[in-house]
Amino acid sequence: MSELNNIAISILDKGKGILAADESTGTMTKRLDSVNVPSTQENRLLFRETLFSASSMTECIGGVILYDETIKQITSKKNKIPELILKMGSIPGIKVDTGAKVLAGSPDEKITEGLDGLRERLKEYYKLGAKFTKWRGVYNISKNYPSKLSIQANAHALARYSSLVQECNMVPIVEPEVLMDGEHSSKECYEKTSEVIKKCFDELILHKVNLKGIILKPNMILPGNKSKEKISNEEVAKLTLECLKNSVPSEVPGIAFLSGGQSELEATENLNLINKYNNSNFIMSYSYGRALQHSALRFWSKDIQNIEGTQKIFNHRAKMNTLASQGKWSKDLEN
Ligand code: 13P
Repeated sequence: MSELNNIAISILDKGKGILAADESTGTMTKRLDSVNVPSTQENRLLFRETLFSASSMTECIGGVILYDETIKQITSKKNKIPELILKMGSIPGIKVDTGAKVLAGSPDEKITEGLDGLRERLKEYYKLGAKFTKWRGVYNISKNYPSKLSIQANAHALARYSSLVQECNMVPIVEPEVLMDGEHSSKECYEKTSEVIKKCFDELILHKVNLKGIILKPNMILPGNKSKEKISNEEVAKLTLECLKNSVPSEVPGIAFLSGGQSELEATENLNLINKYNNSNFIMSYSYGRALQHSALRFWSKDIQNIEGTQKIFNHRAKMNTLASQGKWSKDLEN
């Protein structure tokens, strides 16, 4: 079991973070549509291969979360994608949930599916080279939500998933994402996120998950994106740290935040302040999707053969976030 702890730590060690490149084909199609690139299998592979062969993969990216299509793809140099990631010095992982569906009994909320047949799929992914996995539960905040039902049901699914993943000798990323969408205040985000995370750990413990062999992937504490409230980055960092200190058991080795719709700069600045003020033993790093890829994708879409230029932009973001994971980032390094 200490093997799982070693994997979790080596993914997040020394300021390293995770590249969440596990967009489903539907989500990736939306991202590619937004920059007018046709969402073909070849183009999805080309963009991802461009990132996975960038130099920051060695220095900054401790793990990459892949999607089912990508983990089975072969690169232009005839390598398997997990082999390329390993060769660059990073660790391949895989998203194993099958998406958030309408929650029966509370149709305005979602429950994440994918438990049926999961043990068999995990064995297959392990053989393909995955060392860690991801499952995301989503929760929206409004007057009556998230309901007790969605908090309980998603925590249960995250725990069943985690115990199956550890049985298969991989590290589960436990991702309960309280969405930024809405008019709610930072206080509501704090309270709901605390309740959600505490329930997840109740269930993880009940399901005998080894907490030393997981990575928690939470949201930061922010006001809703339609809220009138404005809070400083310092406040975001302090609220986030307080929330996690009160809801995460100390055995958990690492926390890797999702970016959740923050801009690239915001996600970096908030992570930097979190690490400046962090006086816990938790590693606090990143597992960003959009906040690592947005500028690189926009640049790439102008000329999809410009590998070097795209990598330069991606390398910069990865480096900035790795500095932020050590509290060593400052705005002047952005230029
Ligand atoms: P974002 O950083 O774009 O929120 O994506 C992270 C992720 O993996 C969401 O599940």
